[in-house]
This record gives sequence, C-alpha cells and structure tokens, in this order.
Amino acid sequence: MKLKLAVLISGRGSNLKSLIDASSHKDFPAEIVLVISNKQTAPGLDFAKKAGIATIILDHKKYPSREEFDKAMSAEIEKSSAGLVCLAGFMRLLSPWFAERWHNKLINIHPSLLPAFKGIDVHKRVLESGVKTTGCTVHFVRPEMDSGPIIIQAEVPVLPGDTEDKIAARVLAEEHKCYPAAVKLIAEGRLKIKNEQVVITAD
Ligand code: GAR
Repeated sequence: MKLKLAVLISGRGSNLKSLIDASSHKDFPAEIVLVISNKQTAPGLDFAKKAGIATIILDHKKYPSREEFDKAMSAEIEKSSAGLVCLAGFMRLLSPWFAERWHNKLINIHPSLLPAFKGIDVHKRVLESGVKTTGCTVHFVRPEMDSGPIIIQAEVPVLPGDTEDKIAARVLAEEHKCYPAAVKLIAEGRLKIKNEQVVITAD
C-alpha cells in the first residue's frame, strides 16, 4: 500500500512536479491523491490536472479566520484519506491548530539551510549576509514558522557574481531531489523522531 499524499501549493508548483514525477515510477512508495491551492491561478494546478490528480481551490480570503480556513483544508485532506501533507510553495502561515492536527504528518520544503534564513526573501538575505553556502531543507512542521525536525538538507555554494535568481535556480535543483527523497524515507517507515530530532534507520 502506497502512502497517500496531499500537496498544498500557492504558485508555480515545481516541487509538486518533482513529486508527481517521482510518483510516476512504480516502485515509488507514495502517491498524490489531492492537490490543494489557495490561489485559483496557481500555475502548478496544471501539473496536477495533466497527471489526473484531484485538485481543490480554497480561497483563504473567503474564510473569517486563519483557523477556519485551515479547518476547511483539513476536512478536504481527511476526505482524500491522505496520510501525509506536503507543503510545496504554500505561501500561507498555518494555524497552530493545523500543525497540531497533522503533527508528524506534515512536512515543508524551504529554500535555505534551516534554522538559517527562515521566512521570505531568503536568497536576497543570503546574498546580503555574505555566507558562502546555502541550500534547502525538508522538515516536519511545528507551529513556529519554518521550524521542526529536519529530514534532509542539501548544500549549494554561493558564488562570486551570484544574483538572487542564480541562487534560487541552484537551490531549486536540489529541492527537486530532496523532496521526493524525504517522502520516500517517510513512506518506507525509515524515520523516527526522538527528542525532536529525526533518526533515519538503515534500508
Ligand atoms: C520553493 O523554492 C520553496 O522552497 C519555497 O517556495 C518555492 C516554491 O516553488 N517555499 C518557501 O519559501 C516556504 N517558506 P515551487 O512552487 O516551484 O515549488
């Protein structure tokens, strides 16, 4: 039985695409059963539609509070029978309620080596800071923004003459490898969380 995934997006959806591509291999231990976007115009929805995956648009502006919106999303995820929720460029803060409801069943990808550079405008701040290395992180989600046990990180160099776009592209290429790899580890049951640290067991 494959692990069922719900993927939450807000925009381009290239990380969603990397999960769709990985799931198209018959040995991949997870399948996407639902894609939710909070933006009707998110280009990433097309990747889901082309792959025949159910899509739902939930406009957060139509809900009286963050928690009401999160409860509506949660109800849809429950209906889909997904066992893991993957945030893939979902650019809305989640309520503590949602993080608790999906505790250890909710993961995120972020374009920095967390805990460094939480939040937005990551690559701009990376350039300004003068660090020589950046990267990406896949992590379990906790109520505090961009925090939680780290599953996988990949590093890339920051090079002379870099621009935000150049760094973003270099990091994104790693994101597209890390996200399917993290999902695979979870689906194979090879992760444990001990004292808020991820422990990976052997194959
Ligand atoms: C990715 O770089 C992802 O790491 C980032 O948004 C981009 C979405 O791209 N997420 C965050 O910054 C979350 N804090 P995509 O829509 O092409 O997957």
